[in-house]
Amino acid sequence: MKALVLSGGRGTRLRPITHTGAKQLIPVANKPVLFYGLEAIVDAGIKDVGIVVGETKEEIKKAVSTGKKWGLRVTYIEQEVPLGLAHAVKISQEYLGDEPFVMYLGDNLIKEGITSLVREFKRKRPDALILLSRVKEPQRFGVAELEKGKIVRLTEKPKRPKSDLALVGIYMFDKNIFEAVNNIKPSFRKEYEITDAIQYLIDKKYKVRSHIIQGWWKDTGKVEDVLEANRLILEIIQTKIEGKVDGDSRVTGRVIIEKGAKIINSVIRGPAIIGRKSKIVNSYIGPFTSIYWGTTIKNSEIEHSIVLEETSIDSISGRINESLIGKGVSIFKTKAKPQSYRFTLGDRSRIEVI
Ligand code: G1P
Repeated sequence: MKALVLSGGRGTRLRPITHTGAKQLIPVANKPVLFYGLEAIVDAGIKDVGIVVGETKEEIKKAVSTGKKWGLRVTYIEQEVPLGLAHAVKISQEYLGDEPFVMYLGDNLIKEGITSLVREFKRKRPDALILLSRVKEPQRFGVAELEKGKIVRLTEKPKRPKSDLALVGIYMFDKNIFEAVNNIKPSFRKEYEITDAIQYLIDKKYKVRSHIIQGWWKDTGKVEDVLEANRLILEIIQTKIEGKVDGDSRVTGRVIIEKGAKIINSVIRGPAIIGRKSKIVNSYIGPFTSIYWGTTIKNSEIEHSIVLEETSIDSISGRINESLIGKGVSIFKTKAKPQSYRFTLGDRSRIEVI
């Protein structure tokens, strides 16, 4: 069995972060989202992975490379225009051949992994196995309607959802999916939807099974979702202090301090993670915060947030909360006159001041 990991897309709902980086590489608890998916694939015993890449292909290739560090054989498949998930399957037909495969959307995170689902698929051998999860805002997803436990209809982003069962971005297919992706029309958002391809299978009486997952699932498509995924992962970390904590600092709760990180006269209240070579000075890092590598935080307080690499936060009065801060950002209290706000912000940045 092979896996097809979709890692294209523009990440429009995560701008400005995705102006300069792939959404699948945003770190959650200091690990790119995509890596969690690759690990789930490895755990399920799959070795061959096709990664569909788009505009951000160079970055994805740099991060994943040959896949050797996971024991994977990675093949990159280029999707020149982002025409949808079903289109990604279509262009991967040659790579996938006749074997059944797992399709995994690179920005999805699922607590229980996929091992038991792959097993279920191999045992029952339906033509497709889809995962469903109960959600609060089904209109943001593909939505399934079940009758007596069987799927009767799937609708992509319905205005008036008929159920709260969202399609999780992890699917298992056999070769009949190629007939489906070759027979559907583009949707209202001008994409070839995998949801419509699965509906095609249902209409043609192929065996489509579903599995409602019980553990959490996150599609990290929006800032709130990324922060929530970060919270869920930090919830299950174990303390590991490899960096330096000076005698004036206090570290409580489950905290990871990576190699080369320095904590000086600060309070770190877990669950939190401080990345390698980051420096925390006279500061408070509160629960559910991930600080990536090479970042400096001085005379400031932050919690429930993610800060990416090589950023500097200095002397901010008031606590920073529920924030996603990009790479190489500087936020500091100015000494310059006049004392005023000065912003150099990228397109679609969002600043909330008090
Ligand atoms: C895609 C699918 C949708 C599914 C979602 C899960 O949506 O089209 O059916 O529920 O992934 O992450 P998109 O992220 O392309 O809006």
